[in-house]
Amino acid sequence: MGLDNKTLENLRVAYKMEKLDTGDIKNDPFEQFQVWFDEALKSECDEPNAFTLSTIGNNRPHSRVVLLKGFHQKSPIFYTNYLSQKGHELESNPFGAINFLWLPLQRQVRIEGKIYKLDARLSDAYFNKRPRGSQLGAIASPQSEKVENRKTLEDLFDATEEKFKTIDPIPRPENWGGYYLVPDYYEFWQGRDNRMHDRLSYRLDGASWIIERLAP
Ligand SMILES: Cc1cc2nc3c(=O)[nH]c(=O)nc-3n(C[C@H](O)[C@H](O)[C@H](O)COP(=O)(O)O)c2cc1C
Repeated sequence: MGLDNKTLENLRVAYKMEKLDTGDIKNDPFEQFQVWFDEALKSECDEPNAFTLSTIGNNRPHSRVVLLKGFHQKSPIFYTNYLSQKGHELESNPFGAINFLWLPLQRQVRIEGKIYKLDARLSDAYFNKRPRGSQLGAIASPQSEKVENRKTLEDLFDATEEKFKTIDPIPRPENWGGYYLVPDYYEFWQGRDNRMHDRLSYRLDGASWIIERLAP
């Protein structure tokens, strides 16, 4: 049994791979993100474009993983159902926090900012590139709503497949599309020895980024 406190207390990894100093980083956090993302792509990281997205609803934070699918200027884009829980939360509170965890590199990146809906034409363009099965799934699934059982879900998929049998290409449903987060805060975290990790943050002050070191 792994889920006992003794086992958990003894799980300990020493982080000794790399360091991060103000002299080593880009002045623009987007460029720094690009450098680290390229390294994550080349590393052993599974799904390096997966990130945890936190939004607020009813005064509580809610987190889930979504996929980075591009950038709108320098703003990370993800796609989802606008009527999902996250969609409703963003409707009433458009601020979000993103967290990339690249464990093989002993790195974490946090990005915060305001989230906007992507232009419909850009969402159309991405939807059209998705495999037909994913398009049908996006239409069939009332994301975040309660479903009776697995069969109900499969029936919804089958009915959608039937409905679009002769329709090609499948049009993007209005309730599915992209969001982009316009960053006003970044933090780059590099694991170091003795838990003395490197944390460098970028805070937007007017048009300039202020770089600060934070205690680990
Ligand atoms: C690796 C991974 C990638 C995912 N990518 C997406 C995605 O890009 N878009 C999405 O809507 N949900 C994605 N999901 C599912 C979400 O985590 C979540 O279950 C779903 O969006 C509903 O979230 P909500 O009820 O908080 O709105 C992904 C889950 C995992 C584990």
